[in-house]
Amino acid sequence: MTSMIDPFGRTVEYLRVSVTDRCDFRCVYCMAEDMTFLPKRELLTLEELERLCTVFVSKGVRKLRLTGGEPLVRRGVMELVRNLGKLIETNQLEELTLTTNGSQLARYADELVAAGVRRINVSLDTLDEDKFAKITRWGRLPQVLGGIEAARKAGLEIKINTVALKEVNEHEISSMIDWAHGEGFDFTLIETMPLGEIDEDRTDQYLPLSLVRSRLEEKYSLIDIPYKTGGPARYVKAEETGGRIGFITPMTHNFCESCNRVRLTCTGTLFLCLGQEDAADLRTPLRNSEANDLVSAAIDEAITRKPKGHDFIIGRNQAPSVGRHMSTTGG
Ligand code: 5AD
Ligand code: SF4
Repeated sequence: MTSMIDPFGRTVEYLRVSVTDRCDFRCVYCMAEDMTFLPKRELLTLEELERLCTVFVSKGVRKLRLTGGEPLVRRGVMELVRNLGKLIETNQLEELTLTTNGSQLARYADELVAAGVRRINVSLDTLDEDKFAKITRWGRLPQVLGGIEAARKAGLEIKINTVALKEVNEHEISSMIDWAHGEGFDFTLIETMPLGEIDEDRTDQYLPLSLVRSRLEEKYSLIDIPYKTGGPARYVKAEETGGRIGFITPMTHNFCESCNRVRLTCTGTLFLCLGQEDAADLRTPLRNSEANDLVSAAIDEAITRKPKGHDFIIGRNQAPSVGRHMSTTGG
């Protein structure tokens, strides 16, 4: 087994794949209402995406996460999930997971389990129906809660991901924790990151998690625990609920030192960092040869350019740190 090691000595063993930039929601911190999506002809086929994933796995990737946009809105995506799941059976891959907004889970939960998915992350920023409609613009809460319920019944381990939004959900966070832990779900908070143009000012949305954490400490005893899922969250246990709370703090705390990830988009572009423009085109080498050596060499070259970290800034009239949206690169 080969491995991919970057110039800072970090081993890359986690690949996130954005299978589509499209989504059935339009979350205010993620997208503009009027988004232009990639024309279909720009997309890799699902077979091509699978081939790329397989090359990454042969080069040492142990964890794969499918994201979007909303991964479950891409037509035929379950075929990709099933084929990638086979890599778990043969022990080439440790874990296949999914980040989803939950809207399609009622339909797909059982199939995901059958394909070998054990854990999923569901993005959910509020339990209030009106607020949910406002945040997601196009989403409806009962559909997502129904999806989460179906996922639980199917036996999936669930982590709820909540973006901390100033004034919008900041006073609801502890009730969301009580709900999630009561249901047996992990709960992770994320700071808003300046990715892509949106219709609002990010300064109005940004809520530092250091503040959230100190408020939570008035209600819960939080104990730092070494729990890791391979992602950037740092976890605590809330004594009162017995559940885990994760903090993803790209803005207030630099989490780049232990970065083990790279990100592939549905056009075959490999991003080396969520917060930097550095990228490599894998589509051309993929299509130029039926063998995988060209694409493998392109990946090796890209890894030598993995940046040390990002430098996000959120401020008034500040342009986004990178032009692309989270839905392009995947969460
Ligand atoms: N900043 C932080 N989180 C974001 N997400 C989408 N856009 C942003 C952003 N600009 C979140 C989604 C989902 C995950 C994939 O990323 O809510 O939980
Ligand atoms: Fe879709 Fe997730 Fe972006 Fe919301 S945050 S618009 S659910 S990709």
